[in-house]
Amino acid sequence: MNICVVGTGYVGLVAGTCLSDFGMNVYCVDKDERKIELLKEGHSPIYEIGLSDMINHNFKLKRLHFTTDLNEAIDRSLVVFLAVGTPEGEDGRADLSQIFEVAKQVASRMTEYKVLVIKSTVPVGTAAKVREIVKENLTKPVDFDIVSNPEFLREGSALDDFLHPDRVVIGSDSERALAIIRDVYRPLYLIDTPFVSTNNATAELIKYAANTMLAVKISYVNEIANICGKIGAEIDTVTHAVGQDKRIGPHFLTPGPGYGGSCLPKDVAAIIDVADQMDYEFMLAKAATEVNRRQKKIMVERALEMVGSFAGKTIGMLGMAFKQNTDDCRESPAIEMSRRITEAGGIVRAYDPVAMDEAKKQLPDLVYCDDAYSAVEGSDLIIIATEWNEFQNLDFDRLKEIVKSPRVLDTRNIFDPRKVTEAGFEYQGSGRVL
Ligand SMILES: NC(=O)c1ccc[n+]([C@@H]2O[C@H](COP(=O)([O-])OP(=O)(O)OC[C@H]3O[C@@H](n4cnc5c(N)ncnc54)[C@H](O)[C@@H]3O)[C@@H](O)[C@H]2O)c1
Repeated sequence: MNICVVGTGYVGLVAGTCLSDFGMNVYCVDKDERKIELLKEGHSPIYEIGLSDMINHNFKLKRLHFTTDLNEAIDRSLVVFLAVGTPEGEDGRADLSQIFEVAKQVASRMTEYKVLVIKSTVPVGTAAKVREIVKENLTKPVDFDIVSNPEFLREGSALDDFLHPDRVVIGSDSERALAIIRDVYRPLYLIDTPFVSTNNATAELIKYAANTMLAVKISYVNEIANICGKIGAEIDTVTHAVGQDKRIGPHFLTPGPGYGGSCLPKDVAAIIDVADQMDYEFMLAKAATEVNRRQKKIMVERALEMVGSFAGKTIGMLGMAFKQNTDDCRESPAIEMSRRITEAGGIVRAYDPVAMDEAKKQLPDLVYCDDAYSAVEGSDLIIIATEWNEFQNLDFDRLKEIVKSPRVLDTRNIFDPRKVTEAGFEYQGSGRVL
């Protein structure tokens, strides 16, 4: 089967590559010429473990193609996946202009039956709007179907998530389209992946309901950690015991500097907006957002308490990505902390194993360093902003030699506080007893 995936970002590139690995003939399209050039030269424009190898493997087998020519890809494909961005627009509303633009182009090019699959995260009602847009822009009467197929992969484990999903959600009113999409995902059927077949609106809402639940969970555990910090309780033990309750589960119970990335903040904002439009105040989602904002502020205040004033102080910022194993810095707590510290007169020396280029796009004026040790040289405070594995075994004796003042703010609780304090460092984590 020939498939076209529009958008070669974190979702589109992973989806397109994995579908080609299923044996499909896949045309990955992006309007960003630089990305397409990189891909044709065998380089992945994003960091994702295992992705480059899988791209090169399927590219060499000539079943994975990269192009900026959407028209040609449409002509060749039965199924067109839309995996373009849906960033936060005005008032938190999802900006759907990229989706609508692609829908128009597909419609104006279509001469035979096609299935348009919305893989991007879009508010309820978008599939219906896309259907209208396609109808309005057809140049001749052609049959088509719209399928809502939200993606749940996580950056950092995207390939594994796509190839072994907890479930696949497919929304459509058309049996014909559902059968085609089930066929696309046949290899996942064979490994007993649960499939949820439903209507478009339900499929659209499932994605927002899942992401909002995750945001609430993170904000909740951050609040519990903040309380732990004040009353001398140990957050790791609390979450361990709470997570053993099967009704709650052990995942997503790690405190930190607040959630970031390109999904949770914007998706929670979008569902708040959708609810507002229905005259319903989604109080829990609003609270999760507020707690998240405050959490980032709390971390900066904690850092400030440790150094007294940021003016003229040097902060070694370890990690710039919004979480480990990705180069994505969108809405990253590290970016926000760095911005606040530099605005207050501090100097931030930053290091991230893979996200330096992305960080520089947002904060070009930080001092970017080649490794963790050079980032903390002469620092008044080390901040662990991202939980990269390579930071977990830093040599504290060596650090002690090169920092100006031995202080660590471990926003991700990656260190054993006792070891750090025994090494002569002042230590602050999230909700930990020293
Ligand atoms: N990043 C994630 O972890 C993740 C996970 C699940 C769902 N999602 C959702 O998937 C969607 C895509 O997210 P992403 O992180 O991959 O975005 P991204 O910004 O990384 O990639 C989007 C790509 O679309 C391209 N594009 C935009 N308009 C185009 C057009 N008209 N023609 C061709 N290409 C075009 C852009 O150049 C860009 O490369 C969003 O709705 C997001 O919410 C993201």
